[in-house]
Amino acid sequence: MTQAENPYRQDVFLEDLRQQKDRGQQRIWAEHQEMQLSFLQRSGLTASSTVLDIGCGPMRLGSALIPLLNEGWYYGQDINPGTIAFGEEVLREAGISEQAPYTLFASEQFEFTSVDRQVQIAFANSVFSHLTLNSIFTALLQLQTVLAPNGVLYATFFALEPGRLWLKPHPRNKWGRQFETFPHQDPYHYPLPLLQDLARQAGFRLDVVDDFGHPTQTMGRFHRPRWRRWFC
Ligand SMILES: C[S@@+](CC[C@H](N)C(=O)[O-])C[C@H]1O[C@@H](n2cnc3c(N)ncnc32)[C@H](O)[C@@H]1O
Repeated sequence: MTQAENPYRQDVFLEDLRQQKDRGQQRIWAEHQEMQLSFLQRSGLTASSTVLDIGCGPMRLGSALIPLLNEGWYYGQDINPGTIAFGEEVLREAGISEQAPYTLFASEQFEFTSVDRQVQIAFANSVFSHLTLNSIFTALLQLQTVLAPNGVLYATFFALEPGRLWLKPHPRNKWGRQFETFPHQDPYHYPLPLLQDLARQAGFRLDVVDDFGHPTQTMGRFHRPRWRRWFC
């Protein structure tokens, strides 16, 4: 039997936190939110930035970021409409109104037709780690249609560490929890040069950024080579 790419079409990410009113007390929520927001602030986020959060989940980043955007806009895309609905609940609980500068939408193949401004910062935390190469390639090509000429995508992935074999499960440890990544099933690992080749095919350069701080994933910066920006 062919297994699904990942369980997120059916499973609402972090739904177990739905009943817990003080999500800020949850380590998985609070630390990831702070890590993502402070990284974006170090990476050039301003009050007028247009941000596209790919595989946004239920607003772990969005609930902290949207209040900072005075003239900018936050777009949150996810494959699961239930996750998007949960995200709307989280925004209301955080005191963020429907009139705030944001748009949330669900789409299956990274269609970004709801994005009606050029995106300066695209972001995908812990999303490529759950995707096949086919889906990552699709996401990169779709992103080309909405990204500003100087726009950048920051996306995390599980990098194959030196000495590890692609075909073998790769042991990981997140906050004391042991798990493995795989070549053929979720969560997926990739050798950096393979993703760099894929990025090139989609019109991007991929470099590693060292200061994100994720306990197990590597942060990649996808940007257009200078000559290519002229044709955007
Ligand atoms: C581990 S969660 C990360 C959520 C969010 N980025 C965060 O850090 O809070 C992975 C997210 O990617 C979404 N996802 C998985 N496959 C996707 C796809 N093909 N297209 C869009 N979103 C996807 C899931 O629904 C889920 O919300």
